Amino acid sequence: MDHDIADPALAGAGALRIEWAGSRMPVLATVRERFEKDQTLAGKRIAACLHVTAETANLMLALRAGGAEVALCASNPLSTQDDVAAALVADGIPVFAIRAEDADTYYSHIRAVLDTEPHITMDDGADLVTVLLRERPNQDPVGSTEETTTGVVRLRAMAADGVLRFPVVAVNDSATKHLFDNRHGTGQSALDGIMRATNLLLAGKTVVVVGYGDCGVGVAARAAGMGAKVAVVEIDPVRALSAAMEGYQAVDADRAARIGDVFITVTGNLHVLRGEHYDVMKDGAILANAGHFDVELDLTELEKRATAKRRIRHELDEWTMPDGRRILVVSEGRLVNLSAAEGHPAEVMDMSFSNQALAAEWLLANTDDLGNEVYRLPEHLDREVAWIALEHLGGSLEKLTPEQESYLASWQQGT
Ligand code: ADE
Repeated sequence: MDHDIADPALAGAGALRIEWAGSRMPVLATVRERFEKDQTLAGKRIAACLHVTAETANLMLALRAGGAEVALCASNPLSTQDDVAAALVADGIPVFAIRAEDADTYYSHIRAVLDTEPHITMDDGADLVTVLLRERPNQDPVGSTEETTTGVVRLRAMAADGVLRFPVVAVNDSATKHLFDNRHGTGQSALDGIMRATNLLLAGKTVVVVGYGDCGVGVAARAAGMGAKVAVVEIDPVRALSAAMEGYQAVDADRAARIGDVFITVTGNLHVLRGEHYDVMKDGAILANAGHFDVELDLTELEKRATAKRRIRHELDEWTMPDGRRILVVSEGRLVNLSAAEGHPAEVMDMSFSNQALAAEWLLANTDDLGNEVYRLPEHLDREVAWIALEHLGGSLEKLTPEQESYLASWQQGT
């Protein structure tokens, strides 16, 4: 079996981490059990470009249980858990991923999984589909799935440009993905990464959250919960207002740059913190990015200004400015939750990856009815994921009485 990983000797440690994560993924276990029985993915090749983590490993195992042949590469050069990659290879799953691989290796790994001629591709950021569309004019999978907001934005741009050649399921758009993974997952794991890299006390600090989408909402809530004063930078008035009514300060980036102790970017956009902001930041300001790509912090501008740079801790670089102020950057501005920590906890990836597994099955079952567009997973599947997850949390649901049902269906009763 062809593969490319850092060290096969790490397989034992990786297998334990995969088992631990799997024990916290009850929804995916339910999907896997059904897959084992129904074999709805039998004979299908699935190429996944996802963060190579213990949670992703459980998704790969569930897809294989459904009869698929899977191959996996990384969706970020710094997020690969080498022990997990080794464990999957030992278990017969081809993995092409090495933590801290350079850009050429990263893309050669994407090409390696595309060489398996997949029926379904899975993306987290749309790099796999981008390479496929650019370089493989004769390769047309049945469909693809996309995990994250940034990838969905890219795929919608491809559809608008008329270059998308197959249907895509925007897994991110499922309620059981973005309302939980983006909020609770990013909220917890981004702070986890910053704390592992710095061992910082958040209480009393001013934490600036740049971007108040679902991820920013989660990061702000968790930072406030740990005693930080939260300031939010937004371009959208409704989101900024919503942040203000949560009790946060809604400020522009210039003001934020002057007051912040910790900056966390979660916008999906380019250079949201840049030279003019670095010029006025406090000594010791800490910058981290929790958006998908490493474009949110303009590090070229930081490098231009700085007189020195040293690695002061694992995953933490200190840059010295001409006036002596120090600015600290976590994980080179890459996705902090996966570079400096282990990514989202298994409990949220459980729901995200159950959506991924169901999306692959749905694409295969509905091939004839789908166009070259970006789709949402049908709502009943989203609700099924929520229902199983709720049951495992010990929750239950109220039912409408017949009287309530007919009240909701009629317009006759008023004041
Ligand atoms: N994205 C965020 N956290 C993740 C995780 N633990 N595994 C895979 N992808 C992720």
